[in-house]
Amino acid sequence: MEQNVEQLQQQLKQQEKLASLGLLSAGIAHEIQNPLNFVINFSKMSSKLLKDLTEIIEDNEERLSADDREEINDIVVDLNENLQKIVEHGDRAISIIQGILLVSRGKDNQFIPSDINRIVKEYVWLSYHAMRANDKSFNISINESYQQNLPLIMVIPQDLSRAVLNLMNNACYTVWEKQKSSADDYQPTIDVKVSSDGQQVSISISDNGKGMTQEVQQHLFDNFFTTKPIGMGTGLGMGIIRDIVENKHNGTLTFESEEDVGTTFTMTIPIKTK
Ligand SMILES: Nc1ncnc2c1ncn2[C@@H]1O[C@H](COP(=O)(O)OP(=O)(O)OP(=O)(O)O)[C@@H](O)[C@H]1O
Ligand SMILES: [Mg+2]
Repeated sequence: MEQNVEQLQQQLKQQEKLASLGLLSAGIAHEIQNPLNFVINFSKMSSKLLKDLTEIIEDNEERLSADDREEINDIVVDLNENLQKIVEHGDRAISIIQGILLVSRGKDNQFIPSDINRIVKEYVWLSYHAMRANDKSFNISINESYQQNLPLIMVIPQDLSRAVLNLMNNACYTVWEKQKSSADDYQPTIDVKVSSDGQQVSISISDNGKGMTQEVQQHLFDNFFTTKPIGMGTGLGMGIIRDIVENKHNGTLTFESEEDVGTTFTMTIPIKTK
């Protein structure tokens, strides 16, 4: 009893910390979004200008020496690539920021027509980058596969994103841990898949990490069950996910796991569009 109370108090403290952290990061995220938009828009504008410039050069090609032409061409190619990279990485930063904003906005229990592919993608990468922020050497392959032509589906985006985040955190953690104790030829890999048969949508996250023993599988959904060292996990993640998927969204949460091979979690949710 006493131990439980203590754990709950710890948990509460943690949640308070997280809440204020959430507010703070929402504020920061919001502030960063504007300048980031400028960066992206200016680089798109520069791409257009570069295209105009290239056309002018092409029209006057005969006035240039062969050497100059070649050099100009090389520079234009490089500039185009650089501008593309700026847009690409800028877009990624934007989606991370939107993720933070979404998490911290905290509208509870509201079903909203949502782009499931987008939620999954955002939170998969949010988790990855959070992991990278803690350990720069953390490097994994993420294979993503999304369902084309998926309608907007009624879900509680807040909750669904939390579920994706926790599944992805768990997956990242296990491949990270396995990498520490594996030979160099181990390639940590996570497969993310959104698929649908029209009736329901499935989100699965598959890792080639350490897998789970029978014992862990049995206690997986118990609150406060964790195999992680103190400070690394509270053991609440899986219970929360099951509640989100099964109770709130009328879906199912299944898993397959083999020790030393890996684990796949699949959340399946019935499709409602209104
Ligand atoms: N993909 C996975 N591979 C291996 N073990 C896993 C995986 N996902 C969950 N587990 C096991 O299940 C336990 C419980 O997971 P859960 O997400 O509930 O808690 P946690 O990750 O330990 O802590 P947190 O509350 O921060 O999520 C983990 O400690 C781990 O032992
Ligand atoms: Mg977890």
